[in-house]
Amino acid sequence: MGFDQYHEPANELSPETRTFARMIASLTEEAEAIGWYEQRLAVEPNPQARAIMANAQGEEFKHFGMDLEFLLRQKPKWRVALQDILFKEGDIVEHGIRRHSWQSAGRAKPSSSGLSTPTSPLGADQGSV
Ligand SMILES: [Fe+2]
Repeated sequence: MGFDQYHEPANELSPETRTFARMIASLTEEAEAIGWYEQRLAVEPNPQARAIMANAQGEEFKHFGMDLEFLLRQKPKWRVALQDILFKEGDIVEHGIRRHSWQSAGRAKPSSSGLSTPTSPLGADQGSV
């Protein structure tokens, strides 16, 4: 069993942060499984085996979604950051840039009074990771 999901000493992390790290690791593993099934489906010729793999990949989609939803409930700012990107038609990059062009740079949006006021629901700590 690996403990490499911790980037800092585990005994210095709160239980909530350790759970968050575990769920991030789980999210990563579900994404990897989705990719592995995608590759297997691309090369498997047996229809029954393909059907089983496709069913298994569908389960991984759900596992990934449950992990992500758990994490978003822990980090509301993350949910806000994704709201203009996920489940939208159109250019994905444009949606991301539109949302974050001034927010991720830590700049405040100018107000009508000429004073800069932070208007981002993400707060000032939303720099790129
Ligand atoms: Fe899974």
